[in-house]
Order: sequence, then C-alpha cells, then structure tokens
Amino acid sequence: MPILVTGGAGYIGSHTCVELLNAGYEIIVVDNFSNSKPEALKRVGELTGKRFISYRADLLDREELEFIFTRHRIEAVIHFAGFKAVGESVRMPLEYYMNNVAGTIALCQAMAKFGIKKLVFSSSATVYGVPEKVPISEDFPLSAMNPYGRSKLMIEDILRDLAVSDTEWSIGILRYFNPIGAHKSGRIGEDPNGVPNNLMPYITQVAAGKLNRLSVFGDDYDTPDGTGVRDYIHVVDLAKGHLKALEKIFSSTGVEAYNLGTGRGYSVLEMIAAFIEASGMELPYTIVGRRPGDVGACFADPTKAGNELGWTADKGIAEMCEDAWRWQANNPNGYEEESIRMEQVRS
Ligand code: NAD
Ligand code: WQD
Repeated sequence: MPILVTGGAGYIGSHTCVELLNAGYEIIVVDNFSNSKPEALKRVGELTGKRFISYRADLLDREELEFIFTRHRIEAVIHFAGFKAVGESVRMPLEYYMNNVAGTIALCQAMAKFGIKKLVFSSSATVYGVPEKVPISEDFPLSAMNPYGRSKLMIEDILRDLAVSDTEWSIGILRYFNPIGAHKSGRIGEDPNGVPNNLMPYITQVAAGKLNRLSVFGDDYDTPDGTGVRDYIHVVDLAKGHLKALEKIFSSTGVEAYNLGTGRGYSVLEMIAAFIEASGMELPYTIVGRRPGDVGACFADPTKAGNELGWTADKGIAEMCEDAWRWQANNPNGYEEESIRMEQVRS
C-alpha cells in the first residue's frame, strides 16, 4: 500500500520521495506547487528509475483530497505541505494559519474518514522559541516567536489532542533543525522563490554571482565567535529520518516528537569558511546588525531519535556545502521547466 506524501515536490519532500522510492515504497504525491515545480518530481522519477502518481491538488480542497483517498488505499501519510517563510508569516498570518493549520486539519479529517491513522508531520526547531540552553531536547518548553512558528505549535497540539481522542492514531512529529545541502546528483535541491531568507541558499547565490554579498546578521551573540550558531543537517540525512519515523509509527500508536539534528552547532563564520573550502569560490560578506527574532544558538540533542528511531545524521558540514554548491552550480535558475504530466482529480 502506498505512502501519501503531501508537499512531495518541495525541498525536503522531493529528497524524501527519492529515499522512499529507493527503499521500495510505493508513493503518491499531492502538491499544489505553490512553492515548487513539477520538474522536481520528474527528476525524482529520473533519479530513482521509478514511476509514481502525482496530483496537483490543494489540501484545503476537501473534494480533491477525498478523491485521492478513494482512488488509492493509502497506508500512511508524510505531511510536508505548508508555508514556511517566517517574515512572510508576520505579514500574512491568516494565510499561514489557513494553509498550515486548516490544511492539516483537512488532511486529518480525510485520513480519519478513510481509516488511515498513521502520520509523520514536519515540525520545526522553531517550536522551542528562545531556548534556555543548548543542546535542546524534546522536553524543553515550547513557544512561538512568529505566526509560522505558532502554526507549527498549534498543529502539534492538534495532533496530540487527536491521538488522545482516538488511540488508534500513530503520529510522529519531526522537529527539523536547519536542513541544507542537496542530493549528490545535483539534480534536486532547494529552489527558493526570489531572494533567499536562509543562510545556505543565500551563500550559494552570492558564490554564483546572483547576489552581491552576504550580510552576517550580528557578531555580538553569546557564542564562540559572536555569530549565530545553528544545527545544520544534510537534507538527505533528514529524508532518511522520515523512513525511520515511518517504521516507528507502523509498530506503535500514540504521538511522539523527535528532534532531527546532528547535535553539533556551527556559527555563520564557520559556515562561510566551510563553504569556501568546499566550493573553492569567493564569498564576500559584511557583518551587519542582528536580524530581529533571531536566537544566538540553537542546536539539537538528537538522543531520542537515536534511541527510539535508530536514526542519526552522518553527513558532515563539508559534504553539506559541497552538495549545496553542486546543486546551485548545475541549476543556476533552479527548476525552470514545467514538464510533467499530472494526474487530474477532475477530468
Ligand atoms: P517547501 O516549500 O519546499 O515544500 C512545501 C511543499 O508543500 C511545496 O511543494 C508546496 O508547493 C506544497 N504546499 C504548500 N501548501 C500546500 C497545500 N495547501 N496543498 C498542497 N501542497 C502545498 O518546504 P520544505 O523546506 O520542503 O519544508 C517542508 C516542511 O518542513 C514544511 O512544513 C516546513 O514548514 C517544514 N520545515 C522546513 C524547514 C526548512 O528549513 N526547510 C525547517 C523546519 C521545518
Ligand atoms: C541561520 C543563521 C542567521 C541569513 C529559519 C526559520 C526556522 C526554520 C529554518 C522552518 C542565523 C544567519 C542568515 C543571512 C545570516 N524554518 N544568517 N545572513 O533563522 O535558524 O531558521 O529557517 O521551520 O523556523 O526561522 O535559519 O538559515 O535563516 O539562519 O547571517 O543572510 O544564519 O542570523 O544565525 P534560522 P537561517
């Protein structure tokens, strides 16, 4: 029976689709392409040599969703679909709550209607707000600093309530730290719309000459070199974590949250040095003031995922930088073409 992957054309979703297909899973993808291109799915097919069905559909369209559940006997759902830009969420909170929270509710309602009660959900380290200390373990207090983060917190609460209301549900909440890098082939990777907000895509675009210089947001944090420290994790390691989470929800019920991070923090200046070393490119940068809402240091204690999922990240920072650069260098404009035939929900 197939796994339904919502948001499967996106950055993390596409890498997870590759890992699922390579591991022999059958998948069905649902994506409305609000932040991705069908070309990503075409390349997932090319990389794996496997065929799979994709739907251009919106989670908020109940009719479309139910059509998909009627047509396929889905075993479990990995739910990536959602909006993810922090700044945009501050400007457009209603859109974020609608898409992320209402979209997840619509998905869970459809799942319940069809008796599918196994879910892996993409949460984020942002649910820890400003952590009191690092490394961060799953039992730390949760809080939100912006509508995006609040949407993830709300969804986590909703999923916990759901699991209490019906003990047949089995839900894995994965709190990602900072995913970067790309598939080794250089065929799939992160394709941000417009000027990137996140560090690594900004770095690769500066190195490629698309942007002039990197602004380093603050050098007066309480960190070894004063710049922000994060737990960068290779997107392929992250993708593999979803397969481990699937195995876990197949053999248990209830809801559990897991940090997916390496447990090691790198500062912005360390990331710049690692990128220059890995790519051989120049990277002009200027230190500027702090970015509002940023925390100084954020990195995971990934012990729980190690013990309970049997998952640990094994790719280091050099490989993350090399793979991010290969993707950028080979695809200067990201995914350009829309060239895949999508299944139609309505004919
Ligand atoms: P992404 O934007 O690349 O992928 C999300 C996908 O969902 C896109 O393909 C988009 O078109 C699709 N989508 C959005 N709303 C939809 C809807 N209503 N119906 C159908 N499809 C819809 O993002 P990503 O980086 O791959 O992130 C995946 C998930 O992981 C998101 O939920 C995000 O919040 C979470 N996350 C991401 C990061 C990160 O840094 N990338 C960190 C922590 C958590
Ligand atoms: C990393 C470090 C910046 C850009 C965000 C979201 C979070 C999650 C992942 C989804 C910080 C510094 C950045 C730049 C810089 N997304 N930086 N110059 O802020 O840890 O997390 O993405 O859940 O919710 O908040 O990641 O990549 O933006 O920043 O100096 O141009 O790089 O200050 O220290 P962040 P990031």
